Amino acid sequence: MSALARKLLLLGPPGVGKGTQAKRLAEKLGAPHISTGDMLRAAVAAETPIGKQANAFMTRGELVPDEVVIEVAGERLGEPDTHDGFILDGFPRTVAQARALDEILGEGGLERCVALEADEDELVDRLLKRAELEGRSDDNDQSIRTRMRVYHDQTAPLLAYYRERGILAEVNGVGSVEEVSGRISEALR
Ligand code: AP5
Ligand code: MG
Repeated sequence: MSALARKLLLLGPPGVGKGTQAKRLAEKLGAPHISTGDMLRAAVAAETPIGKQANAFMTRGELVPDEVVIEVAGERLGEPDTHDGFILDGFPRTVAQARALDEILGEGGLERCVALEADEDELVDRLLKRAELEGRSDDNDQSIRTRMRVYHDQTAPLLAYYRERGILAEVNGVGSVEEVSGRISEALR
């Protein structure tokens, strides 16, 4: 049996299950789950300078400026618990961020990019359900529409970026959480 890849990125549109699957993978691999969305939401809640910068962008469903996110992610990836592996969730999501990540990681870099896929009706359905359960400020019609457009315009080009590098694995994100986890594990072998 070959070892699973451990330096991972989960990529995909809003609501596809990046956070859900990254958390499960982190437990399975014993590697940290690094979500820029979660870190930024924590910064907003704590009213830190970064949180104050990020808040309005997030509520509208727009991307927080690259330099802010690169700083947040770069600092986290500098911590020692990431040396042996990590699961990135929601970073990078622009080509500029992907280039910055290459610099941060240096030689070796990312081992695999898992791109989760689902059609837009399924995604909107999930996010509106979550809005009822959790009341996240960006889970409303207008913001969801913006997040989908931003994904297509600014993040989807990363699929080609990692495909060209030969580390892209495309995985169907529709089905039970366990089914999707199984497909991801297969893709990491
Ligand atoms: P972020 O927090 O990354 O949000 P997102 O990409 O919009 O995605 P979500 O977290 O909504 O979805 P997910 O794919 O994690 O799915 P989840 O597992 O939660 O970013 C938020 C904002 O922060 C951005 O808009 C931006 O402003 C800013 N930001 C963050 N990173 C940035 C960056 N790098 N650069 C610039 N700005 C940045 O699942 C969704 C729902 O579906 C849940 O309720 C879940 O329970 C459910 N679900 C999961 N799996 C399944 C399944 N298999 N079947 C049915 N339901 C499922
Ligand atoms: Mg998430």
